[in-house]
Amino acid sequence: MTRKPFPLAVLAVILSGCSGSGSQPDADPNLVAKGKQVFRYDTFGDETQWSDTLRMHEVIRTTVDPTTALSVGLKVDSEALPPAVVQGIQNGSISLKSPDTTVALIKLNAVVGIRGTVETVNGKDTLTRVGITCALCHSTVDNSFAPGIGKRLDGWANTDLNPGAIIALSPALDAAKKAVYNSWGPGKYDPRFNLDGKNGPQVIPPAYGLSGVNRITTTGDGEDIAYWNRYVGVTQMGGHGTFVEPRTGVSVVNGPDDLISDKLPALQAYQLSLAAPSPPAGSFDAVAAARGKSVFEGAGRCTSCHSGARRTDANERLHSAAEVVSEPEPNGAPSYASRSATKQYRTAPLAGLWQHAPYFHNGSAPTLVAVVRTYNSRRALALTEVQITDLAEYLKSL
Ligand code: HEC
Ligand code: HEC
Repeated sequence: MTRKPFPLAVLAVILSGCSGSGSQPDADPNLVAKGKQVFRYDTFGDETQWSDTLRMHEVIRTTVDPTTALSVGLKVDSEALPPAVVQGIQNGSISLKSPDTTVALIKLNAVVGIRGTVETVNGKDTLTRVGITCALCHSTVDNSFAPGIGKRLDGWANTDLNPGAIIALSPALDAAKKAVYNSWGPGKYDPRFNLDGKNGPQVIPPAYGLSGVNRITTTGDGEDIAYWNRYVGVTQMGGHGTFVEPRTGVSVVNGPDDLISDKLPALQAYQLSLAAPSPPAGSFDAVAAARGKSVFEGAGRCTSCHSGARRTDANERLHSAAEVVSEPEPNGAPSYASRSATKQYRTAPLAGLWQHAPYFHNGSAPTLVAVVRTYNSRRALALTEVQITDLAEYLKSL
């Protein structure tokens, strides 16, 4: 029996998967370490919004048991759990049906992206203030302890998180606002709704694999990550500081102080240090992916926009809504580009695609095969069925 030679293209696909992509090797390790702390644990004083205005601490301590918290996509950092708690969860002596357990987990700083102040009130541990961090939406866990409980994976989009459903629990919102928040579903959040009143939820994207990409967000609003971190930190999280954008007319000042500006360089350095995760072994067919690479570069005409090492022309140009296959928006939502600073779209960088379905800014393609089918029909590519599945396998390998 003769062994077929291992095709070089297959090897290239495998190797490109091994190294990951988008990390910044020469970053200052102290700055990166500082940024990691900010990314995971800093609220920038946003308790003003989540506690003083939305009163989420009251909701959490009275109604959100850990089972409920996990069901809306919140994650638990198993490395923050002391052995006694691990044992208690395992033998059932710690109830996952009691909000007191949620408060205990928050006190241990074990709920990813949630920071709380727990004080003794009438002899009982009571959550008196709560805020959120970047990790809420842009970290998940590896489920190594149990579903939703494991080691942190920073930069990974939390595609299970249902931020709308969580915000809608606030007693401070009227029915009309709650209805909008409840309409978003898991893995989506509209980072402009509170400013322009329009409803068009966006897929929570990863915060990894962005080194070398100088246009940030799906509409390329910022030239560096810090631009958007300031936007979200101030206008969405409610952190103390200022965000002003003449192109959209957004101007928000929170608090008398600035708890965000001096943290942005470290926060950005940390995100730039996060490489896209390699696809898990066996998660794609390497031979088909190698063929799919040729479709990507040839019959699919993908490299006319997804060009260069980062598979994006973002640093050279943006694209009008008319060029983008993901518009019109689902459910009659207004064009997301029209709500942005640039009014255009950035060619997506495609790193770690396997990790963060659904695809496109509005999540209109549930799978990578659906992405390819959308391109095939909207751009009249006339790809064969084999080319379509090969191209999807290639996308899974990135
Ligand atoms: C409530 C969920 C949520 C929180 C909290 C949040 N983000 Fe995001 N983030 C999003 C969504 C949704 C987008 C997509 C926005 C867009 O493309 O217009 C986004 C976009 C981004 C991007 C752009 C990615 C790209 O491909 O260009 C980065 C980077 C990012 N966020 C980092 C952060 C950091 C750092 C923080 C903390 C300061 C943070 N986010 C807080 C939901 C969130
Ligand atoms: C005219 C430029 C252009 C061409 C040609 C193009 N793309 Fe895109 N691509 C974009 C833009 C812009 C986006 C972001 C659109 C959005 O977020 O809705 C995108 C998004 C994507 C995404 C979603 C990424 C994510 O994170 O959700 C995938 C996957 C993708 N393209 C693959 C392809 C493939 C495969 C081809 C070839 C068949 C192709 N693209 C051709 C510009 C292009």
